[in-house]
Amino acid sequence: MVVAGCDIGSTTAKAVILDGDTIVTHALLPVEGSPKDAAMQLLEVTLNNAGILHREIAAVCGTGYGQKNVPYASFMESEIVCHARGIQFIDPDVRTIIDIGGQDAKVCRIDAYGNVQRYVYNDKCASGTGRFLEITADVMEVPVTKLATLDASGVKEVTLSNQCVVFAETEVISLLNSGEDMGSIVKGLHRALASRVASLALSIGVEEKIAFTGGVAHNAGMVGALERVLKTKLVVHEYCQIMGALGAALIAKERMKHGVAS
Ligand SMILES: Nc1ncnc2c1ncn2[C@@H]1O[C@H](COP(=O)(O)OP(=O)(O)OP(=O)(O)O)[C@@H](O)[C@H]1O
Ligand SMILES: [Mg+2]
Repeated sequence: MVVAGCDIGSTTAKAVILDGDTIVTHALLPVEGSPKDAAMQLLEVTLNNAGILHREIAAVCGTGYGQKNVPYASFMESEIVCHARGIQFIDPDVRTIIDIGGQDAKVCRIDAYGNVQRYVYNDKCASGTGRFLEITADVMEVPVTKLATLDASGVKEVTLSNQCVVFAETEVISLLNSGEDMGSIVKGLHRALASRVASLALSIGVEEKIAFTGGVAHNAGMVGALERVLKTKLVVHEYCQIMGALGAALIAKERMKHGVAS
C-alpha cells in the first residue's frame, strides 16, 4: 500500500511517499507563497519524483504549521506526534527529540512506543529558532549552509551579550567591524542558540538518547554546540528535516491498516 506524509512547515514543505516500510521518494520545497500553493506544488513534485499517479496513494497525512492547507490530506496529525513517530522508526532507543525549524523550536519526550509524554515549544521569539541563524547569516552575507564550515574555522567562541535577535544583529555588525573573525562569531551564535534550546529542553527534563531533527540539524556547528551544552552525543539522521513528513506517512499507513482513513 502506497501512502504519503506531507509536512507544510513555516519555511519548507516536505513530503515522503511510503510503500510498506520503504521510502519510495521524498521531496522538499521552500514555502514562498501561500501554504496551500506550497502543498499543491509539493504534490506535483513528489508524484513526479516517484513516477506515480495521485490516485495510487491510498491516504495522505498532513502535518506542520500549514497542515490545514493540504487539500488532498485524508487527515492531520500534530508535528510533534509526527516527529516522534518518524524518529521511533529510525532509532527506537530515542527518548527525547529536539526539533529546530525555521520559526520554532520544539522538545518532546517519548516512550519506547514513540508516544509523546511531555512537550514544550518556543514559537514566540526568533532568538530560539532557526530564524536567529538566518537573520545573523544575512548580516554576515553568507548562506546558512556555510555556517557549519565557518564554525569549524573559528579560533574561539565569541560571547554574545544580546539575547534578542534584533540586538544580536547589531552586535554581529559591530563585532565584524572590530575585526573579530567570522568563524568565532558563528561559534558564538551557535552557542547562544544551543543554550536557549537546551534551557527549553531542560524545562521538561531530557532523557537519552536525544535526537536532533528539523532543518537546523543539518548544521554540524549547531549539532556540536548542542552536544557541548547538553554534554551528550545526539542522534542526527540524514532524514532530520523530513522526519515529520516520514512520521506522517507512517501514521497514514497505520491508520489505513486499522481502517480509519478519515
Ligand atoms: N544545510 C543547512 N544548514 C543550515 N541550516 C539549514 C540547512 N538546511 C536547512 N536549514 C535551516 O533549517 C530551517 C528550516 O527547517 P525546517 O524545514 O525543519 O523548518 P519548518 O518545518 O519549515 O519550520 P517550523 O517547524 O518552525 O514551522 C531554516 O531555518 C533553514 O535555514
Ligand atoms: Mg517543522
